[in-house]
Formats: sequence, C-alpha cells, structure tokens
Amino acid sequence: MADVTQIRRPERMERIATPAQAQAFIEEQIAALREQIGDKKVLLALSGGVDSSVVAALLIKAVGKQLVCVHVNHGLLRKGEPEQVIKVFRDQMDANLVYVDATDRFLDKLAGVTDPEQKRKIIGGEFIEVFAEEARKLDGIEFLAQGTIWPDILESEAGVKAHHNAGGLPDDLKFELVEPVRILFKDEVRVVGKALGLPAGMVYRQPFPGPGLGVRCPGAITRDRLEAVRESDAILREEFASAGLEGKVWQYFTVVPDFKSTGVKDGKRSFEWPVIIRAINTKDAMTATVENIPFELMQKLTARITSEVEGVNRVLYDFTPKPCATIEYE
Ligand code: XMP
Repeated sequence: MADVTQIRRPERMERIATPAQAQAFIEEQIAALREQIGDKKVLLALSGGVDSSVVAALLIKAVGKQLVCVHVNHGLLRKGEPEQVIKVFRDQMDANLVYVDATDRFLDKLAGVTDPEQKRKIIGGEFIEVFAEEARKLDGIEFLAQGTIWPDILESEAGVKAHHNAGGLPDDLKFELVEPVRILFKDEVRVVGKALGLPAGMVYRQPFPGPGLGVRCPGAITRDRLEAVRESDAILREEFASAGLEGKVWQYFTVVPDFKSTGVKDGKRSFEWPVIIRAINTKDAMTATVENIPFELMQKLTARITSEVEGVNRVLYDFTPKPCATIEYE
C-alpha cells in the first residue's frame, strides 16, 4: 500500500473552483479512500471546522459507518457549534458520531491559570488525552483521518510551523493516516465542501483558533466571563450577518478582559466587564487592518450587548492593526 503522506499536489493541477471540478475530485477521492481503507474502520477528530468537516463528509460518502467521528467539546466553542456538528453529521448525514462533552474537565484544569502559553498547552494536551481515551474505547480502528491541507505541508516543509495535525497521539495508538484533502488549498476545500452538501455556515466559516474562546477570555478563565464572551460573540455574528458583513470581513469576534469598571444600570451603580469588539481584514493573517464598522452598527451592537449579556456594562472597539497587535489577545 502506497504511503498517502507522501502524496504531493501535482505541479500542473488546476485550481478547483467549480462544482464540476469539485465533483470530479470527490469521485476520485471516494475511489482512493475505498481502496485504502477496504472494510476497516477510520477514526476522525471532528472539530466542526472546514477541513475536518470536509474530510468527514468525504469519508461518510466513501465508507459510511466505518468512519467514527469524535467531536470533543472543550467548553470553549462558540454558541451553537456543538449542536451544529451533531445536527449536520449525526442527524443529516447519519454518521457514526461520538460526542464528548468535556467542558468540566477542561475548565477545571484551566481554573486559575493566567499565563497564555500555559493555557494553550493545557487545552492542547487535554484535547489529545480526551481523544486518546475515546480511541482506546473503540475496537478495530486501523486508520486515523486528518484534515491536513496543502499549506500545512508547505509551511511545515519551510519550517514556518510544525503542522499540528500529524500525530500527537500517545505511542500505544498507532494508526495509518488518511488525508483526503492534503493536496488542496483552503479555497478548494470550501468548494469541495459545498459540493458535498455541507451548510454554507460551516464551509465559509471564519478562522477559529484551536484553543477557541479560551484566548478571548484573557487571564484566568471563569465560567461567567466565558459565557459573556460566548454570548457577545453570538450577537456580533448575528448583527454582522444582518448587515451583510458575513463573508466580507475576514475575522470578527469579542473579547472580555478581566477587569471591571463603574457604570449605571436601571438607576443603580453597576461594576461590570467591558466587551471589546475586534474586526479585521487580512490576506494571510501575518498583517491585518481594522474594519471600518458603520457607527450605527456599532451603536446597535453596544445596545444589544449591554442589555443582553450578563455582567457587561461597556462596549469598546479595538482600532489596532497587526502589527503592532496580534489578531487574537493571547
Ligand atoms: P494572531 O493572533 O497570531 O492570529 O495574529 C493569526 C490567525 O491565526 C489564528 N490563530 C490560531 N489558529 N490555532 C489555530 O488554528 C491557534 O492556536 C491559533 N491562534 C491564533 C487567529 O484566529 C488568526 O486568524
């Protein structure tokens, strides 16, 4: 059997941009996946992000119930995300989906941890542990599917970053890799996802960091402040969608810093957190400019967030480009 991790994007491969090209790629991949996997079982960590979702949809078409998807909810996902993964993959695509709500595990481990790098390490390490535990409960898995894409390979070859997909699992879990989108660029993955019938909200999703809302709740994460991040993020996404900005602004989110300020609510003194709105545009996330949000939309966001999100009495806008600020806060 050829080692699929050696497969490279052919130099003259046409960029997949049309439904017909996507369909041809899908059919080719289904045949290749069936040949590689045979009647064996495949495991996939399904985050709900574009790449893993497209890999899941391809594998469901190719090998159906031989695929076991594991969706780990680390408690740092956006509002509605775990529900969407369950709805799309278990209910609509009839996938074999193991849903693990590990919120308490993650938040207990993160309690009191203020250092950003430490927080990231805990989230990454715990993720692998939860996933490995689920993998050990399953019998007869021989393959591990991953949403590695072509830029991951190029960046790891260029030494820009170790591409996070490869492995990380403990030594007792050795699987052969399945990487059906490894020769695709991100825009091609989206076209293929659309052709596979995935919802637009999943296919055209803005980038979302692995450590999730954890990096938008700076300092030690508490459940109440995390909830304020999640709720304000949901309002921002809703309002950007109604204003026609969804898909136009590259990335937008809210941050709730760990300080409080004085305000007045219902004629009484309040002492609550601010919500910071961040909305940026970029090509490659190396540099970024700030979106010019219309003032009326800013006013609407402020009114909704201060009245609907518990524990919040101010809304601020981050005007800082990258550099000198990074896009995320931690
Ligand atoms: P920064 O904050 O470095 O972010 O300017 C650049 C882009 O990368 C995303 N980001 C991440 N993506 N895992 C990811 O998959 C991560 O740990 C991570 N950290 C940042 C960030 O959202 C932005 O789009």
